[in-house]
Amino acid sequence: MSLLLDPEADNVHRSTPVPEILPGTSIEIAVEGPACQASTRPGGPPFHPEPYIAFEHVSKSFGDLRVLDDVSFSIAAGETLCIIGRSGVGKSVSLQQIMGFLKPDSGRITVAGEDITGFNERQMESVRKKVTMVFQNGALFDSLSVGENVAFPLRERKELHEDQIQQVVNGLLEMVGVAGMGHLLPSDLSTGMKRSVAIARALAAQPEAILYDEPTTMVDPLMARRLGDLIQRLKHQLRLTSIVVTHDMRFAERLADHVVFLHEGKGIFFHSVEQMRDTDNETMRQFLRFDAYVLPF
Ligand SMILES: Nc1ncnc2c1ncn2[C@@H]1O[C@H](COP(=O)(O)OP(=O)(O)OP(=O)(O)O)[C@@H](O)[C@H]1O
Ligand SMILES: [Mg+2]
Repeated sequence: MSLLLDPEADNVHRSTPVPEILPGTSIEIAVEGPACQASTRPGGPPFHPEPYIAFEHVSKSFGDLRVLDDVSFSIAAGETLCIIGRSGVGKSVSLQQIMGFLKPDSGRITVAGEDITGFNERQMESVRKKVTMVFQNGALFDSLSVGENVAFPLRERKELHEDQIQQVVNGLLEMVGVAGMGHLLPSDLSTGMKRSVAIARALAAQPEAILYDEPTTMVDPLMARRLGDLIQRLKHQLRLTSIVVTHDMRFAERLADHVVFLHEGKGIFFHSVEQMRDTDNETMRQFLRFDAYVLPF
């Protein structure tokens, strides 16, 4: 598969296993495939895949503050894991440890079969080619246009001609719902649109996994819905492995295969979404009740 519209024009990196992103085509929910079987949903086949990302007994403190205390969870390739929990429980810290921006004090983190816990910056660069993060504020380059932001990872790879880059950028902008906005600056966009562009830029890096930090906060419910739809399409169509940090339980229920609930340093719940609904864990039930109260249907 190729990022390019015209297979004949692609004599540069035909063998690169990347998502197929076709400018001008609508994205359809893909039929069930191997990645979709990596599920524990009732009625699904028994399946015990190797984790794509795993936390094994991870602890992390800042001074006297023990943020994560012996936390373990994992996510299979093609699955979506939602990390939920109150403010300050270490959700963002967890993502930053996967990206290698922070290191655990103890325990192990594996990504794509490699123990990355002791990786140095140079080794982390190769991990960051496989796993990209969409930051809450989008972290776009303010002085570059939207199109240049999305083109950035493509230009860094030096694999495509300029006209090919433009084709891919246009396809990506259309895919995330901001077609025709490539010439604007990030400051011209709403928070939700910036986040869509950040997702397009993450996709341009052709990752195997994307980490989203609170993708639906600070946007209106309609935009939250659109971003949720987008993340879901990416999961099904491109078989991307996703970790989504969210406060929004409806969002988690719609997207997640598994949920990990962090509370007072511990991962006190790590199960499927179905099990979350039926949980008798009182702390978890309280969290779910409070969410229903704050965000009624
Ligand atoms: N680089 C750092 N140095 C010191 N303390 C930090 C650092 N990063 C995070 N912390 C602390 O670790 C705790 C967990 O932070 P984190 O950002 O992971 O919370 P969170 O669960 O993402 O919360 P929120 O839902 O509000 O985003 C907080 O108390 C925070 O102040
Ligand atoms: Mg956070």
